[in-house]
Amino acid sequence: MFFSQSPRLFFSSLLTFFYLILSSNAAAQLPTSEVQALRDIAKVLEKTDWNFDVDPCSDKLNWHTSSENAVNCSCSYSSGTICHVTSIVLKSQSLPGTLPKDLGNLPYLQEIDLTRNYLNGTIPREWGSSKLVSISLLGNRLTGSIPKELGNITTLKSLVLEINQLSGNIPPELGNLTSIERL
Ligand SMILES: *[C@@H]1O[C@H](CO)[C@@H](O)[C@H](O)[C@H]1NC(C)=O
Ligand SMILES: *[C@@H]1O[C@H](CO)[C@@H](O)[C@H](O)[C@H]1NC(C)=O
Ligand SMILES: *[C@@H]1O[C@H](CO)[C@@H](O)[C@H](O)[C@H]1NC(C)=O
Ligand SMILES: *[C@@H]1O[C@H](CO)[C@@H](O)[C@H](O)[C@H]1NC(C)=O
Repeated sequence: MFFSQSPRLFFSSLLTFFYLILSSNAAAQLPTSEVQALRDIAKVLEKTDWNFDVDPCSDKLNWHTSSENAVNCSCSYSSGTICHVTSIVLKSQSLPGTLPKDLGNLPYLQEIDLTRNYLNGTIPREWGSSKLVSISLLGNRLTGSIPKELGNITTLKSLVLEINQLSGNIPPELGNLTSIERL
């Protein structure tokens, strides 16, 4: 009855229905905990042009503009409905802040590259509990010693800390980084 009376309405609702399914699939999203982690990171780095009005994994606006300014995500989780941040690359941006202490809310983060900025302060020992594969802090204004906790990042393959004002020796614990390829 309903169908025969208003087939047009029926088909347009059907279309809307499929559109909603498709678009919700297309817009796989970053969990709010990771969005919040990015907000916290933006604050300490003093990265001011990330646009939180869009999903950070959407590739839109300022989230991914070049190989030197990119937040990369992997969106293949839970049948393509959930994204996770896998890399943060912010090179040569004159960022004046400090390093984020806590990367624990980005559990899938593999790469952090903050090459050539003006970041000061110390390298947080908390990074020791991350699963990072690649860290570059080349060319900043970091001080203090290299935390021995970094020796606990068993996944780490590349650690680049040159051109900073770090003091002290390379901690022997880094000898435990068995997969390291570049130090
Ligand atoms: C980020 O994604 C782009 C493609 O969108 C790719 O070219 C680039 O290699 C990725 N970078 C990292 C660090 O994964
Ligand atoms: C970092 O630099 C700012 C000024 O740019 C300064 O106020 C702050 O004390 C510095 N912090 C450290 C730990 O050197
Ligand atoms: C490394 O991890 C082990 C086990 O998780 C922990 O007992 C140890 O205190 C850590 N070492 C450093 C230097 O953080
Ligand atoms: C390397 O790791 C082992 C166990 O994980 C630990 O007992 C040892 O003290 C570490 N070596 C260094 C130099 O930290």
